[in-house]
Amino acid sequence: MAIEAWFMQENDEDKRLPHHCNPQEFVSPDHLAEIGVLYWNLNPKVFENDGELQKIRQDRGYNYMDILDLCPEKVENYEQKLRNFYTEHIHADEEIRYCLEGNGYFDVREKDDRWIRIWIKPGDLIILPAGIYHRFTLDTTNYIKLMRLFLGEPVWTAHNRPQDNHPSRREYIKNFVNKIIVGSPLEAR
Ligand code: LAC
Ligand code: NI
Repeated sequence: MAIEAWFMQENDEDKRLPHHCNPQEFVSPDHLAEIGVLYWNLNPKVFENDGELQKIRQDRGYNYMDILDLCPEKVENYEQKLRNFYTEHIHADEEIRYCLEGNGYFDVREKDDRWIRIWIKPGDLIILPAGIYHRFTLDTTNYIKLMRLFLGEPVWTAHNRPQDNHPSRREYIKNFVNKIIVGSPLEAR
């Protein structure tokens, strides 16, 4: 099944609820790709020995891997970490997450700054491009186990918004927001 993503209705309700608009407005994988968000669906039961996962890692140079088991017993400063994850930020590098168990929401900003909510379930691997504004929350099941991948030595530093002059933000704007679509009338100008 394809990943589920939708435009988010912002209100004071619990962040762990879906926050659908009324009527619901879904966002397709192609739409996500346009803002640089990539997606694969893999078999989480075989993650330790998965040729498909190995191929993605090889193709994209993801030599680093660890597992984040997001529960209070296993994560230091659990509540603080969750607050940080849900504070809008960017990274200088891609954020690559593969859901092995549980669920959660990655929210990413559309070009016009609306939030798109991406529901991550077991088997979903997503790549957020460097410089995209985003945040993460658990959903009402309150648990997720994520594989984190990285190219080179991992850097998890979050740069909270606003970051308009951060090099990765500028690069993101250039590649995905101000991008000239080949064949579009704009190109002739
Ligand atoms: C994050 C967690 C979910 O970086 O890995 O937002
Ligand atoms: Ni992040």
